[in-house]
Amino acid sequence: MMAGRGEPLQGTAGGPARHIPVLLADVLDTLAPRDGGIYIDGTFGAGGYTRAILDAADCRVIGIDRDPSALAAGRDMAEAYKGRLALVEGRFSELDAIAEGQGVDKADGVALDVGVSSMQLDQAERGFSFMQDGPLDMRMGGEGPSAADVVNTMEEGDLANLIFRLGEEKKSRAVARAIGRARTDKSISTTGELAEIVARAVGPSRDGKNPATRTFQALRIYVNGELSELAEGLAAAERILKKGGRLAVVSFHSLEDRIVKRFLAERSQIARGSRHMPELKSEPPTFKLTTRHPVSASDEETAANPRARSARLRGAERTEAPARDIDPAALGVPALPAYPSAQHSKPGRAR
Ligand SMILES: C[S@@+](CC[C@H](N)C(=O)[O-])C[C@H]1O[C@@H](n2cnc3c(N)ncnc32)[C@H](O)[C@@H]1O
Repeated sequence: MMAGRGEPLQGTAGGPARHIPVLLADVLDTLAPRDGGIYIDGTFGAGGYTRAILDAADCRVIGIDRDPSALAAGRDMAEAYKGRLALVEGRFSELDAIAEGQGVDKADGVALDVGVSSMQLDQAERGFSFMQDGPLDMRMGGEGPSAADVVNTMEEGDLANLIFRLGEEKKSRAVARAIGRARTDKSISTTGELAEIVARAVGPSRDGKNPATRTFQALRIYVNGELSELAEGLAAAERILKKGGRLAVVSFHSLEDRIVKRFLAERSQIARGSRHMPELKSEPPTFKLTTRHPVSASDEETAANPRARSARLRGAERTEAPARDIDPAALGVPALPAYPSAQHSKPGRAR
């Protein structure tokens, strides 16, 4: 049975780890695992980072993922590193509470490798991919509305807004109109149907990318609340890391990297009141940057793993200053339309 939050998983069977960990050597350099340390891998995925941390030092890891299938595939790893690896289903925005559920109140390192794994993208039935037809789902965990729920019920204006903000799609209004027209005949229930509707609305891309790329990105980020998860995950890492503890965050597009960059820029300086915010007390920095500029993949890594092309790693070391609240909007988390579950009747779930 899958463990819930706070319960370690015990298991035996393992699954294929087809996901190639990105910027692995740089993440390890940033975390600098040491004997006796406790590390939190907030995005366990195929366990690439976790395994490397466990092999680098005689330490313990709490591996968290919101996707139960990722944890099920990691059961053999938990068995092989028995007593050193606990796998917990949950969201990294709650990683400090999850760690506390494991009896850990301070950690030596936190790694976040945000976004989806290759396993999630490759399985048509997860509904992330416009390359393979499958049910229009896109949820990493099982909870909340699916992408089909969103495209079949959200007002056209709200849909255009979210496709513009989260997908940076210039033709977002045309896409939302095309979705609005298509769903009057019949609910949109597969990735193939949506990809076709979007392709007709935006026409061929100049950059050679599939014309549905930006709309699919927007829906995936929305369905999984990815940007607010990231902002809250950084705050949770700040709360759980001990003095000298390390944070390593790998992101894959500018919306994510902007949040990490702003968080670390703000947290690595003395926060002072200003003419505009005189009520703000002077606060000491909670982090020291370990990398002034983000680290990107080498040409060799990108050639071996094209997914690494857009990856950016930012790292920092925790100071002793107390953790503070975050302001998600100031970090770059956009205000988004709420899912209209109350106003609309439930659409047919994607099949
Ligand atoms: C890019 S993969 C991580 C790969 C991993 N570093 C490895 O080396 O195998 C991202 C994983 O994070 C999980 N994930 C994404 N957002 C999450 C969140 N907010 N909380 C917990 N897990 C999350 C996804 O389900 C996915 O399995």
